[in-house]
Amino acid sequence: VLCWFYVFPVYRLPRDKDIVDEVLRQGQVWQKNQTGIDFFRKLLTKCCDPRRKFAVTKENSPMGKVLWYDGEFYHSHTVNNETFPLLVKDNPLQRPLKKCAVVGNGGILRHSKCGRDIDQADFILRCNLPPLSKEYVEDVGTRTHLVTANPSIIEKRFQNLLWSRKVFVDSMKVYGSSYIYMPAFSMKTGTDLSLRAHYALGDASSNLTMLFANPEFLLTVGKFWKARGVHARRLSTGLFLVSLALGLCEEVTAYGFWPFSVSLDEQPVSHHYYDNILPDKWYHAMPEEFVQLWNLHKSGTLRMRVGRCS
Ligand code: CDP
Repeated sequence: VLCWFYVFPVYRLPRDKDIVDEVLRQGQVWQKNQTGIDFFRKLLTKCCDPRRKFAVTKENSPMGKVLWYDGEFYHSHTVNNETFPLLVKDNPLQRPLKKCAVVGNGGILRHSKCGRDIDQADFILRCNLPPLSKEYVEDVGTRTHLVTANPSIIEKRFQNLLWSRKVFVDSMKVYGSSYIYMPAFSMKTGTDLSLRAHYALGDASSNLTMLFANPEFLLTVGKFWKARGVHARRLSTGLFLVSLALGLCEEVTAYGFWPFSVSLDEQPVSHHYYDNILPDKWYHAMPEEFVQLWNLHKSGTLRMRVGRCS
């Protein structure tokens, strides 16, 4: 008799506690492995070509180009008279970037004192318009070069930008003159909101530059990680940014990636460094992603900071 688990092998993720124990065993030691870094960059370039494809540009998406939404099947947007002028000319991150810091929003950052460390990087990437107010500066730093913004944030926090354009533009000032990276062509509902955010920033002569995420890039990065065992409906924003950074930067350090409720010294940790609102469990697979990132840390390809910086 064939046992059902021979027919359908079960993929078992280690328990949270096992992962925490493993991280403790490994400690904070890290040794850079240039061969590993070059190899991984090559893999990412081959699958997803971040340097040319991470944003929708006039170069890779001329008038008439059909952009297939990566988060919704059978929906597309054809680049037209309205959208074409909103695209940047060419991919703005052509030159090699030296030290990059990718900052996730994990509660592990609270009291980490990693702010100075983060601010010393040459290129700093942040997720989902995170708060950078005074109380957090010591832990998360102040500088930003690229920040992602999900259309759902525009909807919820800024009431669809129907009457809170000024509040939106003002609250973007903490990100200085960085790029704001929006998945405008992932879900149909996100397109109008992203265009509206673009107009609001443009009308106010904001210092930020809007970049629309390229759905083809998001799709290929999703497939890349799926082939490596990340079984989620959609990758988390943080993993997209780490993938982008590994494809573009000479050295990558990740902060604030810790989807567990206890810290290494067994203290409770909130989900975010600024609140404890949990994600939809079935949408992302953050612990699975963490295992992948930790493997890259162990191989010297990416440095993960999961404790205090000083
Ligand atoms: O929108 P999403 O749920 O992807 O992200 P978020 O909660 O704003 O956090 C930004 C990123 O930080 C996530 O996409 C994760 O990659 C990472 N994160 C983590 O690793 N551990 C946490 N406890 C929270 C966030």
